[in-house]
Amino acid sequence: MRKIHMFDTTLRDGEQSPGVHLTIEEKVEIALQLEKLGIDRIEAGFPASSPGEIQNVQAISKAVRNTSIAVLARAHKNDIEAARTALKGAATPCLHIVLATSPIHRKYKLNMTKDQVIETAEMAIKFGKNFFSEIEFSLEDASRTEFDFMYEVVDRAIQAGATVINLPDTVGYASPETFGDMFRKVRENVPRVDNILLSTHCHNDLGMATANTMAAIHAGVDQIEGTINGIGERAGNTAIEEIALTLETRQDIYQAKSNIVLNEIYHTSKLVSHYTGMAVQANKAIVGDHAFAHESGIHQDGMLKESSTYEIIKPETVGISTSTIVLGKHSGRHALKKKLEHLGYHLTEGELANAFEHFKMVIDKKKYVIDDDIHLLINKDFINMQH
Ligand code: KIV
Ligand code: ZN
Repeated sequence: MRKIHMFDTTLRDGEQSPGVHLTIEEKVEIALQLEKLGIDRIEAGFPASSPGEIQNVQAISKAVRNTSIAVLARAHKNDIEAARTALKGAATPCLHIVLATSPIHRKYKLNMTKDQVIETAEMAIKFGKNFFSEIEFSLEDASRTEFDFMYEVVDRAIQAGATVINLPDTVGYASPETFGDMFRKVRENVPRVDNILLSTHCHNDLGMATANTMAAIHAGVDQIEGTINGIGERAGNTAIEEIALTLETRQDIYQAKSNIVLNEIYHTSKLVSHYTGMAVQANKAIVGDHAFAHESGIHQDGMLKESSTYEIIKPETVGISTSTIVLGKHSGRHALKKKLEHLGYHLTEGELANAFEHFKMVIDKKKYVIDDDIHLLINKDFINMQH
């Protein structure tokens, strides 16, 4: 089965989420957890942005010894020098150079012709090659770049020494169909791509970062980039945990695997949420509070008989101890009985019938009941209970 390399940019693109600022100690702790999670390459920062950022990357490089560390640089000598200083102590460093290629970016942001973009890319990669053997080159806004120009930039970047070519959907504009086609076309039209790692990096502006990333995997990319909990610029990046679990759950489609240690996912998610202050939405796939919670009576009944009826992933797989049966207005008698037994109450059929009737009255006034509500319910004198 082919391996998908996991490139985590929680500490670079993720930290670009509005309002997020991580201290050096928090960054080191997150980086060490990413190493434990089995990430292949951690993007630790953007050293040219400040002297503090250089220190952050140096501290991460010192602490993390078994995972490659990358940093971002624009296609400028000064940025590459800053990257070199930051990565001096890294065990397996990688320079990540970015330059936009789309007509919109060429015209309004860079004010460069196509030839100037190619020359600048070649200059930066060749300069970087003096200090780094691993160089990733990203064609920013690749998904809005003309195909012929994209092929040329990719080919010239590889000839200049890039070892990874990354084609990002920078503004979350792609659709799975077009994005998969883009990678197929690049593989067909640039044979040299077979000698390097082909990568993707998606944003979630239309809510399709995971779908687009999976389409790219299906079309043959070797590396995917993302963040924990999908944090990042605007609507965020691809959520690494969603890709890891999709590869695990749908091997029949993708026939690829990652090195992610699945049962470290939940802890990593909690750690990132805690330090960034970014709450994970309750219904977020894989790591949301409700991802393994079942409320409806029909689902609860199925779950209590056999969990695979309504769960495609076992919560323990991602490091969550157990599924939750939430007692809400859709819950049935079977779920209430299980909950009571769990709390130590063993009721006769008559008592259960009374308790269920009372439960339905309570739940009409609430969204869901907590264990204390159940204790109160049982202590009502109309149910004569043996505890
Ligand atoms: O979104 C983007 O294009 C980026 C690049 C630096 C890869 O973050
Ligand atoms: Zn990005």
